[in-house]
Amino acid sequence: MMQEIQFVRAQTLKAKPQDESKLGFGRIFTDHMFTMRYDRENGWHDAKVEPYRALSLEPSCMVLHYGQAIFEGLKCYRREDGGLQLFRPRDNFERMNTSAERLSIPTFDVEDAMAGLLKLLEIEKDWAPSQRDTSLYIRPFIIATDPFVGVRASNTYLFCIILSPVGAYYANGLAPVGIYVEDQYVRAVRGGLGFAKTAANYAASLKAGEIAHQNGYAQVLWLDGVELKYVEEVGSMNIMFVLDGKIVTPALNGSILSGITRKSILQLAADDGFEVEERRIAIEEVVRAAEEGRLQEAFGTGTAAVVSPVGELCWNGKKIILSGGKIGPVTQRLYDELTGIQWGREEDRFGWVLKL
Ligand code: COI
Repeated sequence: MMQEIQFVRAQTLKAKPQDESKLGFGRIFTDHMFTMRYDRENGWHDAKVEPYRALSLEPSCMVLHYGQAIFEGLKCYRREDGGLQLFRPRDNFERMNTSAERLSIPTFDVEDAMAGLLKLLEIEKDWAPSQRDTSLYIRPFIIATDPFVGVRASNTYLFCIILSPVGAYYANGLAPVGIYVEDQYVRAVRGGLGFAKTAANYAASLKAGEIAHQNGYAQVLWLDGVELKYVEEVGSMNIMFVLDGKIVTPALNGSILSGITRKSILQLAADDGFEVEERRIAIEEVVRAAEEGRLQEAFGTGTAAVVSPVGELCWNGKKIILSGGKIGPVTQRLYDELTGIQWGREEDRFGWVLKL
């Protein structure tokens, strides 16, 4: 276990957002952040909660050149009784270590990260909004900090956690999103970085995202990087289909992010009596099922996106409207169950919640 976490209080505190219906996503940051540093001699050390401020990095800082950067996303939820809770937080730090391992970043002790997060939240708890569907988004990240422009893994790193009060990720909340199935660019390939939560995957997605936007779609659905044939994920969320009444989602194959919301929804759905399938799904199968009336619903799952209905899919010029462009009953039910547990309105029947 690390030594004590130092606390350096901010000199001035910011005004908290007045209107919680206008938080949007990821634009407002709290007064403090958690940091710790890594070097070869000391391992992870120098843990602090300190004022949120601009970082000072040399222009030669390795992360700026070769992208050794990983991150996570989780949320702190305010219950109706005013108390706060987290949803499966250790799973995020464990996944972060999986990403670290892939990017040749030194792993950390999950309990050190938990201690840092809990101390930060204790100090910043008043920033957690209380209006329905809002939360305090938690963004842990690690960057390589050596001032060096040769290509190798850095010897020094910064681990940081910042907090942001948020509303819905998509501007129009739970309204169904239109998704463009990308048939030219790919997000990840087998043996690459797809399973890691690393900056490069998001950089790789931007171009296709812009094209999708120009065509009136909110997000991109990625196909596999070899044959452009099998459905992978959306980038900000995993994808699920209600097909012949079953919940069907792409199996984790190394190029898909192992979503914590994804695995939670699969468990909830199975517990609700749905048949659940994790397997390879060809985009042609999805289109055929839609044409034959066997595709009832599609939805995305993610921490930021929660459970997000898909109202339309566009592939190869074909447009598929799902559930009449509205949220379908299965999506609504799983949304209600998951958010019920996350915000403490429903019993935590799987032991997922950590009350603060
Ligand atoms: C999340 O769901 O927390 C994510 O990290 C997705 C996105 C905001 C990049």
